[in-house]
Amino acid sequence: MNIVITGGSGDMGKAIISEVKTRFPEATIYEINRNIDKNTDLKGDLSNLLDVYNVSAKLKKLQIDVFINCAGWSEPVPFEDLTVKQINDRVNINFYSPLLFMQAVLPNMKKMHKGVVINISSVTAVTPVPNLHIYSASKRALDSITVSLALEYSKYGIRINGIRPGSVKTRAASLGRSKLGELKGLSDDMYEKEMSRENGYDRLLDPSEVAKMVVFLISDDSSGINGQIINVCGTMEVHS
Ligand SMILES: NC(=O)c1ccc[n+]([C@@H]2O[C@H](COP(=O)([O-])OP(=O)(O)OC[C@H]3O[C@@H](n4cnc5c(N)ncnc54)[C@H](OP(=O)(O)O)[C@@H]3O)[C@@H](O)[C@H]2O)c1
Repeated sequence: MNIVITGGSGDMGKAIISEVKTRFPEATIYEINRNIDKNTDLKGDLSNLLDVYNVSAKLKKLQIDVFINCAGWSEPVPFEDLTVKQINDRVNINFYSPLLFMQAVLPNMKKMHKGVVINISSVTAVTPVPNLHIYSASKRALDSITVSLALEYSKYGIRINGIRPGSVKTRAASLGRSKLGELKGLSDDMYEKEMSRENGYDRLLDPSEVAKMVVFLISDDSSGINGQIINVCGTMEVHS
């Protein structure tokens, strides 16, 4: 099984790779990363669409069974200070790169009549947070495309699902929380406590709790699940 992941150098990405190796030891994992070249030269800065096009061209030549879009960028900025470059960077990383990578890998999956795509979204796509406007909007757009593509490709044996994590203990999240706390006039500790309470567990989630959902969505145990955006967020987002 060939698995490609973006954002594998991040805390959630590392947890996903670790769970995947445990559950599918036979799998070959390729990383799309801006800093390293492992297995292939799938190197690219996902805020740069030229890099995304170059990596997409290479992906088209590979036979990929599972594609995981995990890279993301959420640094908060007050709306009035947002520059066009900051808007473009966020949209490119969180929306355009997953979109263009899916366009690159789906034709081969269609020929193989099998494939799994998992897009890491965010609970903020449905419960937006002040100062994360473009992040929330781009994740919401990703969710929408996830569902549309699942409808289009399910007849080819392909499953495309999304995961919306809540507040997870990772590098990006602690940087983001620190800035969001600052903007709300709260210390890092106070803001982290607030986010933990919102998860409903009085703790941040562990990246492995998201990774276990990824592994489930890759496995045939989830064969009945397609076109779903699944919350892994404690009780941060609930519906009855
Ligand atoms: N942690 C949370 O609470 C939380 C909640 C909801 C959703 N999420 C989502 O979970 C995913 C993983 O995030 P994380 O929390 O694990 O953060 P993280 O530890 O900072 O990981 C982010 C990953 O994205 C990559 N990335 C960022 N900008 C990039 C760029 N321009 N080009 C290429 N790669 C880039 C990073 O690569 P480098 O190592 O090169 O920086 C890293 O691998 C993201 O999609 C995020 O939106 C996280």
